[in-house]
Amino acid sequence: MPTPKPKHEHGILKFPKDFLWGAATSAYQVEGNNVNADWWAWEQKLPPKFRSGKTCNQYELYEKDFALIKELNHNAHRLSIEWSRIEPKDGEFDHHEIEHYVSVLKYLKSLNIKVMLTLWHFTLPQWVAGLGGWENSKTASYFERFVKRVAPEIAEYVDFWITLNEPGVYVYEAYFERVWPPAKKSFWGQIKTTLNLASAHKKVYKYLHSAFPKKPVGIAQNVQSFEPYHKHSLIEQVAVVFTDLTANHLFYFLTRKTHDFLGINYYFHTRFKDGKGFWPEIADETLQSRDISDLGWEVYPEGLFDVLADLSDDLPIYITECGIASTNDDRKNRFLITYLSEVYRAIKAGIQVKGFFYWSLIDNFEWHRGFDPRFGLVEVDYLTFERKIRPSALVYTDIIQHSGIPHSLLRFIGHTVDAEEVLEKRYREIIKENK
Ligand code: FCB
Repeated sequence: MPTPKPKHEHGILKFPKDFLWGAATSAYQVEGNNVNADWWAWEQKLPPKFRSGKTCNQYELYEKDFALIKELNHNAHRLSIEWSRIEPKDGEFDHHEIEHYVSVLKYLKSLNIKVMLTLWHFTLPQWVAGLGGWENSKTASYFERFVKRVAPEIAEYVDFWITLNEPGVYVYEAYFERVWPPAKKSFWGQIKTTLNLASAHKKVYKYLHSAFPKKPVGIAQNVQSFEPYHKHSLIEQVAVVFTDLTANHLFYFLTRKTHDFLGINYYFHTRFKDGKGFWPEIADETLQSRDISDLGWEVYPEGLFDVLADLSDDLPIYITECGIASTNDDRKNRFLITYLSEVYRAIKAGIQVKGFFYWSLIDNFEWHRGFDPRFGLVEVDYLTFERKIRPSALVYTDIIQHSGIPHSLLRFIGHTVDAEEVLEKRYREIIKENK
């Protein structure tokens, strides 16, 4: 009997072979007991529900979490180190904590995982905050000193450096919304903070770039997709261009020529709608009955293509964060398939996207929103610290194993074919017809 032909797996959205597939976390959000951080001092004034406490206790359980990364077939991981642990007092470095991070990173590397390491992810040592935090121009030099002390000890276990995470979001939450420390209303404070963060990045980029020339250096920038509510409205178009330039491009501009890649975190889509005032308002997506996450953030995969196209230039791009807070795991499945389809389209369009880090590997402490948002591929029980792999984590693994999105997953969202494949087939038919 002839062996049956293998079924043609049509419609697979294939990614490049060397694509990085991983998830991201940050030290303060997962480690627990970061008692020397400014956030720790800040959260003690809040109701217990909003205190990080032991969070996921990854400080002790990192081996368990990294084993999960391996089990899930990720080939890369993004994590951060906590400055306030390593330098709890001005100029005093805790060797024991440096050793801890050496063990953490060494273990990750021993599993053959590419390591993307963030050096500052929102939290400051209390002594730095006491001296004015990022409003103090000296903080850029303190940060440089910290990096120069720790980087030589860990560099062999690091593949990519991220100097800063989302400088713009930090300024927004700390100075506009004032829900993060230093929670200050100060126009000059914002300006100084932005400029000092830019100066910190530049100093650290120069150092890392010359000390470890083979390890690319960048930042993780929160980029948003904007559009006008009425295409014909000039003021809405102006709002789109202005906000895109300030929110998405300004920090890159301030730090131009000091990036080996662009790291982008994508979560938001905004429609500007002309209202009564001079400046357009943000159209309320709930009034449009849009699909939103548990945090009220619109689910808008097409926006990921838009920001990739908007930011693309000669540099490679890594999606350093992208994820959804949802207790409904089916929504996470759909999120992964639809958002990654947009990444596929961007790659097809010639945009150099080189990796995707889902936020987050495990549920964790979501800053001023506490523990309710569930971003994790892996569920965490905050009482027992037990980890439980969610089915959506396996959907991601399925994608990773196929090095693309297989038809078996695409059919859930009604997508059956790859446009290119259809066109190719059609051309072949035309050629045949014309022969
Ligand atoms: C990003 C932060 C990250 C996490 C996600 C949900 O802005 O970088 O720490 O809070 O949002």
